Amino acid sequence: MGRLIVTILLILLGMQASGIDPYERNCVACHKKFSPSLEKFFFDYLLKYSSERRVKRALIDYLKNPTRKKAIASEEILKRYGLMPKTHLCDTDLHEAIDRYWEIYKVFGKIK
Ligand code: HEC
Repeated sequence: MGRLIVTILLILLGMQASGIDPYERNCVACHKKFSPSLEKFFFDYLLKYSSERRVKRALIDYLKNPTRKKAIASEEILKRYGLMPKTHLCDTDLHEAIDRYWEIYKVFGKIK
């Protein structure tokens, strides 16, 4: 039993180290290169949807099915970068990525 736990911990650590974290691997990887700042979008969502629950729900909804009508991004951004591709992350990874996204920026924003 103890061994099993150690093995699982090692696997989890290995995953962290190799960047399996879906937020880094997916969101950051693409945004770093091809798209506008994740930070700016976070605050735009926060202003529009205000609560943690509503922000997360709107993000998940958008990522699963981005449309011009729903987009918070400006016309200029949409023209320059095009619409964000629909996410290919599974639900578990998507929720994990959104939770990370929230955790990272809510700290900088110093909100509860
Ligand atoms: C393959 C590239 C790519 C990936 C992967 C990606 N994005 Fe994006 N994202 C974009 C582009 C391009 C835009 C700007 C156009 C738009 O808003 O749809 C964008 C826009 C956004 C927006 C603003 C949406 C709006 O309402 O306009 C948010 C928030 C966002 N991304 C968060 C994420 C998160 C969180 C992830 C990971 C789960 C992610 N993105 C993964 C390319 C990507």
